[in-house]
Amino acid sequence: MPDSATATATANIGVVGLAVMGSNLARNLASREGNTVAVYNRSRSKTDELVAEHPEAGFVPAFSYEEFAAALQKPRTALIMVKAGAPTDAVIESLMEVFEPGDIIIDGGNSLFTDTIRREKAVRERGFNFVGMGVSGGEEGALHGPSLMPGGPDEAWTTLGPILRSIAAVAPDGEPCVTHVGHDGAGHFVKMVHNGIEYADMQLIAEAYDLIRRGTGKSPAEIADIFAEWNRGELESYLIEITAEVLRQVDAATGKPLVDVILDSAGAKGTGAWTVQTALDLGVPVSGIAEATFARSLSSHREQRAVAGGLPGPAEDAFTVEDADAFVEQVRLALYASKIVAYSQGFDEIRAGAAQYGWTIDLGAISKIWRAGCIIRAQFLNRIADAYAATPDLAVLLTAPYFVDALGRAQDAWRHIVGTAATAGIPAPAFSSSLAYYDGLRAKRLPAALIQGQRDFFGAHTYQRIDKPGTFHTLWSGDRTEIEAEDTH
Ligand code: 6PG
Repeated sequence: MPDSATATATANIGVVGLAVMGSNLARNLASREGNTVAVYNRSRSKTDELVAEHPEAGFVPAFSYEEFAAALQKPRTALIMVKAGAPTDAVIESLMEVFEPGDIIIDGGNSLFTDTIRREKAVRERGFNFVGMGVSGGEEGALHGPSLMPGGPDEAWTTLGPILRSIAAVAPDGEPCVTHVGHDGAGHFVKMVHNGIEYADMQLIAEAYDLIRRGTGKSPAEIADIFAEWNRGELESYLIEITAEVLRQVDAATGKPLVDVILDSAGAKGTGAWTVQTALDLGVPVSGIAEATFARSLSSHREQRAVAGGLPGPAEDAFTVEDADAFVEQVRLALYASKIVAYSQGFDEIRAGAAQYGWTIDLGAISKIWRAGCIIRAQFLNRIADAYAATPDLAVLLTAPYFVDALGRAQDAWRHIVGTAATAGIPAPAFSSSLAYYDGLRAKRLPAALIQGQRDFFGAHTYQRIDKPGTFHTLWSGDRTEIEAEDTH
């Protein structure tokens, strides 16, 4: 950039990409004391619209990357809010052409963390700072206070910390919902797992609704009241709150509950699948998140469902519970227990990701920044924060005393609900997989021993014994004696 251009620099931060998330974040930034925000969008009309509609924001509009760079004070800080993938790469490239070493480029999209690792390296090699930042909270969150999960270098965090703290959601104890998650892709990794947990939470809520509706015959509006009631207790969370709102909604065109006229085919933009794919690579069993992701896939295979509709099984309307209130309470307990499992699995994945990619991630800090602003915000996250505060290196979240107690209370109901769902032919994949995970984890002995035997039988994969060290192989096709073996398979 020619030096003369910096003389006009009035903005301390800029936003590239002015679709709803970008423009709402720009407005949020502009509303905070001390910020002047430059804005740029590929098509000029969006910039013009935003500036015209929000004169109070005092935006500095730019209509080229050169103008955008010239509008920014040094070190320049640009927040990119465009579609993940190739569009993000293109914007980064354009910014590097007009920026100078030391400037900061932030990607606030839902980027895949491995892309962020790649970009951080490439951008750093050219002398710039690159921050991949998870942003959660949807449109409203972006405008009024999101939960922010920035990764990237320490140097960038020094500049960005105060700005991000000023726009983030504020937790009930007054703490802003942002922390420097870790280096390079750590922020987007944590955001990915946040979304995976979001999938599990939503699926569990959906299963709870389905069981109550089919077991008690209550209407969506009546079930909305149940969710509203639950939202006053230990399940209090944004997702429970909006579930009540959605269930209460009546379709203007038909007068029916809206939930009954929405096609039962759930969409997904991919972050749930990323969470599961990554967990598979890391060897972390995130079964609740996986079931939630697969449940969406199953729902969307409408042709298969149409063909399979006549398969034998209990009739759709054959299930009725005798004591509706007791059943609703059992479902609530099963939901809470399964939710604990989903979060425990998600935090396991974060720990494994940190170990794999060399990040130092404070799990307690992550639970704290999810307490407000984000989609999975919940009272329950305070309990997770307490657990990590008491035992920072807690190996399994659900073994923290509070959760042991909660799972103990939920036990009987949880098992009853999973059994009831199976008997009644009501799919409850997230409820049942969470319970199976729980029982697998606490089992003294697993049938994995048999699997080891099978592997050794057909592939000489060897096994270890419970009573002495070493690696062994049985001569299955010979005299079936056991030999000590080198594990070369
Ligand atoms: C958030 C949300 C947000 C988005 C999801 C939805 O934290 O604000 O998670 O990122 O709503 O990506 O994902 P699906 O379209 O896959 O449900």
